[in-house]
This record gives sequence, structure tokens and C-alpha cells, in this order.
Amino acid sequence: MNPQWSPTSWRQFPVVQQPAWADPVELDAAVGVLSTLPPLVFAGEARKLTADLARVAGGRAFLLQAGDCAESFDSFSADSIRDKLKVILQMAVVLMYSSGVPVVKVGRIAGQFAKPRSADDETIDGVTLPSFRGHMVNDIAFDAGARRADPQRLLTAYHQSASTLNLVRAFAKGGFGDLSRVHAWNQEFVASSAEGQRYEEVAAGIDRTLRFMAACGIDTESTPQLHTVDVATSHEALILGYEEALTRQDSLTGDWYDCSAHMLWIGERTRQLDGAHVHFLSGVGNPLGCKVGPSVTTDEVLALCEALNPDRIPGRLTLITRMGAENIASTLPPLLRAVKEAGHPVAWTCDPMHGNTFTAPSGRKTRHFDAVLAEIAGFFRAHREVGTWPGGVHIELTGDNVTECLGGAEEILDADLGTRYETMCDPRLNGRQSLDLAFRVAELLQQP
Ligand code: PEP
Ligand code: CO
Repeated sequence: MNPQWSPTSWRQFPVVQQPAWADPVELDAAVGVLSTLPPLVFAGEARKLTADLARVAGGRAFLLQAGDCAESFDSFSADSIRDKLKVILQMAVVLMYSSGVPVVKVGRIAGQFAKPRSADDETIDGVTLPSFRGHMVNDIAFDAGARRADPQRLLTAYHQSASTLNLVRAFAKGGFGDLSRVHAWNQEFVASSAEGQRYEEVAAGIDRTLRFMAACGIDTESTPQLHTVDVATSHEALILGYEEALTRQDSLTGDWYDCSAHMLWIGERTRQLDGAHVHFLSGVGNPLGCKVGPSVTTDEVLALCEALNPDRIPGRLTLITRMGAENIASTLPPLLRAVKEAGHPVAWTCDPMHGNTFTAPSGRKTRHFDAVLAEIAGFFRAHREVGTWPGGVHIELTGDNVTECLGGAEEILDADLGTRYETMCDPRLNGRQSLDLAFRVAELLQQP
């Protein structure tokens, strides 16, 4: 452990993407309260996820990390959490059933409330206000009151994360994830579609297998591996005051863990090697992710591996590549080779969303399903070329029937985007597009 590190030592490093909090006294008070509140996760759970991700790094499991671009204080309901979980469970079943590879499930959930922005301010009709930075910081409405960075929101984010996590745990451990319920995860609007039908075939196959196993004396209710699922939580560790306040020392090992989520990641805009985010996360014991985009150099990637995983612990570091469909064939293979040669045990996953975002003629921010698939296909090709394991996908999705990404089987067009465009930040795949994607990824996983 680095003796120079403490939960507050990031404050001596250059820090980007932090809001200009309106009132420092109010901020200190909110962070002070947060630091007295119970941790959301325990160190042992984070260590268990590291062990699961070690299997991803070793080529023996696949990571499905998925959820909202930004969770919202407004659309917070049991139904939306349940539906997100349903689509993640469906995707995992499709991947596991088709490929036989275990799937590690991690939600962008229960804490994904803060967004990095390309500009600090936004100007509309001559009026300039601070940018929207996610509900942990301010509100999206374009008025001065809403855009004020309000420290009370840190506490609201904590409490919403706690209730979300509580429900996720209840669903995961209370029988909702029981394999005999595979049919029940197929939502109505999905079930009638071609993807939904294809899913029903998988579910029927699982049913047959379960009946056979029941005849052999193994039933799902008494078999924890079939009756419960593990769903871990993750978010971008962006607002460091929040993360610091939830960082606690593990009584068992004496190590520090950021107990705001099981896994934390560093975004593309905050991965500076000499910056506060890399420093802060280097000191916590959680499994970490780090986004890497098309501008990253091999030296930077190797330095990130050294900074974030100097002890070369398998499962500690997941590199989430987000190159863009057009760039992946040229940018990814050199990184894979360099990391392989250096012997760093990295879990590589593909975020096919953030390198493929554009503004449609209608003015809406969107992504095309074909570009998302093309980046994933390029990711698999790059790994096959270098002899490394394409360890997973990182997806922005919702269980809802939204129209935010173009294409897919229902062929969403620019003119359709307005029908149900509900995201607060980036466009998400809807339930049908997500399931379709899972089938495509399963096909790629099956190819030798
Ligand atoms: C995100 O994951 O929502 C995000 C902002 O990604 P990136 O840091 O890769 O741009
Ligand atoms: Co996003």
C-alpha cells in the first residue's frame, strides 16, 4: 500500500470535472454527514467481485456491465429498477446458454449519478449557465436555480443508491433471479418481437434442462447457484468528495475500500496519470475500471496499468475500450499487444457506445445500433488477432421501450427518436435492442 495515500490525499493533485459548488460550508457539511453514514457495500463483496473479474481477465468468464448513462432522481421507481434488472438477466442467460461461458453481471446502477461534461457552461439564447453534471450535482432544467451545484444532492444520491441497492439485492437473492423464472423476465413489448421469440426458445431449452435436473433430484430453490444471482454495482467515480466520504477502512485487512459501489471506474476525461482521480482510485481496494478512447497511447495504457494495479492482481483492473467503430481495428491491437507483452493481467471490455455518439439531423444525440455492433465485432477481431480474451461489453441500456438509439430490428429512424426519448444524458439501447445485441455477442463468443 502506498504510504503517501489517504482518502483525502487526492486533494493535492490537479482535479478536473468537479462542480463549482455554490457554498463550500454547505459542501463540507454534506460531506461530513455522508462520512458518518453506513457504507453501501462491504469490502468482502468487492473482493469477491475482484475474484470474479480475475476469471474474466484469465479468459474464463465474460463481463456484462450495463445500465443507465445517468440515473435520475425523477424517474426512480421499483418498476424501472426491476425492468433494468430483467433485461440484464435476459442478456446474461442468452450469453451463457449460447456460449457456455459464465457471465459476471455488473450494473451501472445504485450510484451512477454524476456526468463529466465537455464544457463547464452551456449558452442558450445568450444566457450562460453551468452545464448539467448529473443529479448528484444539479438539475437538467435550464434555469439558474436548477443548475446550481447543490451539495444536498450528494446526500440524496447516497439515499437513492441505498434504496436501489436494497431492491437489487432483494431481487437477486430473493428468488426473482431463479432460473425457473426465465420466461417471466421477457417483458411484454419484447416477447412479441423476433428477439423475444428467439429468447423464448432459449428459455424453453433452459426449462427442459431444469426439468431433467429436477428429475435427477436437483431443484432450483434448494440450489443457490440456480436460485440466486450476483449483481454487483458500479459507477464512474467522478465527484471525489462523495467517493472520499464513503471510503472506509476494512476491519479485516486494514485496507481502504470505496464503499459507494463494488466497482468504480475512471472516465475518459479524468484518466490523467498525474491527476486526482487516478491517484484516489489507486488507493482503494475495489476492482477498478478505466475507460480508454482512441487518443490513448500504449505508454499511457501501460502507465495506467502500473498506477492502478502495480501488484498485478488479476481482476483488479478492467480496461474499458471505447474507440468508435471506425477506429477500433487500428487503435486496439497495439494496446492489446503492449499490455500482453508487459504481462499485466487486464480484463478487456468493449464500450461500443461512447465512441459512436453523434447528433442526428433532428438535433438529438444518438447512436446507431449497427455502429454499436460493428465496434463489438471489431473488438472480437482485435482480440482474436492478438490472442487475448475479449472479456466483456459495457452497455448503456434501459429495460424500457424507449427510442433513443437508431436502428435495430424495429428500425428506429431519426423521425422516431422523439417518440420516447427519455434519457437525461446519452442515448440508451431499449429492451429489444439490448436482447438483440446479446444474441449477436453470443454468436461472436461462439466463433472459434
Ligand atoms: C459514460 O460512461 O457515461 C461516459 C461518460 O463515458 P466516457 O468516460 O467513456 O466518455
Ligand atoms: Co454515457
